[in-house]
Amino acid sequence: MNAPSDPLIATAGLPAAGTSHPHESARSQVQGRAPYVDDLPELKGTLHAAPVMSPVAHGRLRGIDAAAALALPGVVGVVTAADIPGDPILATFVHDEPVLARDQVEHIGQVVALVVAQDVLQARRAARLVQLDIEPLPAILTVREALAAGSQVLPTVTVRRGEPEAALARSAHTLAGTLVVGGQEHFYLEGQVAYALPQEQDQWLVHSSTQHPGEVQHWIAHALGIANHRVTVQCRRMGGGFGGKETQAGHMAVWACLAARKFAAPVKLRLDRDDDFMITGKRHPFEYDYTVGFDGTGLITALKLMMAVNCGFSADLSGPVADRAIFHADNAYFLSDVEIVSHRCKTHLQSQTAFRGFGGPQGMIVIEAILSDIARHLGLDPLQLRRRNFYGIDTRHTTHYRMKVEDNILEPLVGALARSSGYAARRQDIAAFNARSPVIKRGLALTPVKFGISFTATLFNQAGALVHVYTDGSVQVNHGGTEMGQGLHTKVAQVVADELGVPLSQVLVTASDTGKVPNASATAASAGTDLNARAAQYAAGQVRSSLAQFVAGLDGCGAGAVQFAGGRIVSPKGSRDFVDVVRQAYANRIQLWSDGFYRTPKIHYDKTTLTGRPFYYFAYGAACTEVAIDTLTGESRVLKVDILHDVGQSINPAIDRGQIEGGFVQGMGWLTCEQLVWDTRGRLSTHAPSTYKIPAIGDVPAHFAIDFWPEPNREDNVYGSKAVGEPPFMLAISVFEALRDAVASARPPGSRVQLEAPATPEYVLRALAG
Ligand code: MTE
Ligand code: HPA
Ligand code: MOS
Repeated sequence: MNAPSDPLIATAGLPAAGTSHPHESARSQVQGRAPYVDDLPELKGTLHAAPVMSPVAHGRLRGIDAAAALALPGVVGVVTAADIPGDPILATFVHDEPVLARDQVEHIGQVVALVVAQDVLQARRAARLVQLDIEPLPAILTVREALAAGSQVLPTVTVRRGEPEAALARSAHTLAGTLVVGGQEHFYLEGQVAYALPQEQDQWLVHSSTQHPGEVQHWIAHALGIANHRVTVQCRRMGGGFGGKETQAGHMAVWACLAARKFAAPVKLRLDRDDDFMITGKRHPFEYDYTVGFDGTGLITALKLMMAVNCGFSADLSGPVADRAIFHADNAYFLSDVEIVSHRCKTHLQSQTAFRGFGGPQGMIVIEAILSDIARHLGLDPLQLRRRNFYGIDTRHTTHYRMKVEDNILEPLVGALARSSGYAARRQDIAAFNARSPVIKRGLALTPVKFGISFTATLFNQAGALVHVYTDGSVQVNHGGTEMGQGLHTKVAQVVADELGVPLSQVLVTASDTGKVPNASATAASAGTDLNARAAQYAAGQVRSSLAQFVAGLDGCGAGAVQFAGGRIVSPKGSRDFVDVVRQAYANRIQLWSDGFYRTPKIHYDKTTLTGRPFYYFAYGAACTEVAIDTLTGESRVLKVDILHDVGQSINPAIDRGQIEGGFVQGMGWLTCEQLVWDTRGRLSTHAPSTYKIPAIGDVPAHFAIDFWPEPNREDNVYGSKAVGEPPFMLAISVFEALRDAVASARPPGSRVQLEAPATPEYVLRALAG
């Protein structure tokens, strides 16, 4: 157990929240004792399913010949669309994606059938022997082709304010440009997996590595043609989700259930890593065209921005992702006269999906690129120019989607980071360094983040929880959120411990389970703690108030005078052990458990015009990053990173720091080394760690200083905290802008820097050659 000298452990009696308690599973995870779905003991007779994937990007599916596969030892059979008793279309919001391909295939890797065998390797080997008869059709593989062909998964959305055309015409200066930004594979360490266990009377228990057990439940019921109440989905933890398991974990679960139903046996489906790359969606790649107008001081006076969103073959979450990109195309900057046109393009690729930031990064990166372009054009310092364009407090405070920015801390936060990172002096040092260094060039950028917190779909901003106090005083909590490594269960337990005034060790959070808290939203949009910890706080508050009333009755005082702290319950008349009160309360038939429900206040917005208040509040941050590039090879390195980030009043500083570090490095990967390459047939050729490179420990900057902004959330959020899961990801835009700064220093003054993301050595060389 934890040694008392462990600096991470709170001293007994102190409140649990605000302290860096270790993640509830940290110890068992490093010991290899924390089970993931694939580690669960297998029931006797468990079968294994493996996917049969389309080798053609677009075509008519004429037949499936499984004879060779069926002849292999251990093979039990094959599942196709014909085996779906319910709706053959997945129960997604747009209802445009087949459970298994039927008469046509729409990307290389699309799952056409499943081979089921006694062991997983038999199933995978056999799946490769299934012959598909496909008549190829023309495929749309790039977003520009899709734009030209008008190929879309959803209609175009336009958000306008003011008179951008007239304002452009009046602008002292204008610049037009393009930007290309790649996608990103989630690379969760635990791949997609589900284990389906048939129960009595057409009921189902499914273990799924999912951010959204409730949706998985719904999808299964829909595909099986049964009511939701027959399906229970559980998830104790994920080995990472990052958005990749917000919807797309559902596919594995539905497939496993179809196989389990057909062969009346438990079925596990765990994708092999290469298959996971080929089948599941990634971050949406974006391309942009823009025309910006500005004055001689760099103040933006007009913007026309086109975003072409590469959605892949189906809608999945592309609508809300593309919406969030629109909501973040301002980032920290007031845009008076603006038009943003967002095309949701259909290509014959994997169906791109949620990924940390959920379109926010793709919205912000383009405005940051534009601001740097303006600064280079005018020969001004990019940080000064950014600050000039910040949202104001009394004026210039309303976003292009008509939400007033009420909690603006941009100027003081960025000012503080500029000072602590020594931005101005380093700018000079770097210029001097570059002047005497012909091959290695350094670059610097300080960029802000303003990220909107709440699901943009207002209805998802609700949560429920259950708090059970047992007669030995121990507390069990269950809530609708899921644990993917982000520390949600730890934070929820901390909040419940403080509500009841008991030590954190007395509180246990159990697996997410659709049978306990129903209709829960996905754990996403960084809102996991905001929603679920609040619901759990309310549930614990109910139990506390019952206990307080009970003690007040004993002591003849008001319930409000009864305090809970340090494992004791104290009234003006005396002090008792929590557990003694619990036992007595039980004997007096007092309810010792409760539910809690929370819905985020203040938010509303009009889905058709994308105007209103989609976000409860904003999370802010800024990063100052220094990089070096080798102008002969195009290689780059991130040298120094200083971050000042706003987590409000932290519930768990160590976990929040981990989120900031991890988010930043993951963002760095998106913009530097993680490259998805689809070949001319539409086959993803970077489908394994051999060719797809995520940042390794050696890529973490040697200087990586992280500070917290010292102010609680100005909105009434749980314990004064702010959401932290996604916002730090976008701090890595400073890496991209620092790289563009380094490239600029190797080119004639004032010239444009046309760098594509990710800034691989190849693309850096191309940008240098310009
Ligand atoms: N951190 C870890 N370790 N693993 C993850 O999968 N997902 C991120 C972020 N941090 C993720 C993570 C994403 S995409 C989101 S939306 C949030 O965590 C979700 O959790 P939260 O709402 O509880 O912060
Ligand atoms: N963020 C993450 N996931 C979502 C959202 C969002 O805003 N809306 C729907 N799913
Ligand atoms: Mo996170 S992309 O909202 O799962």
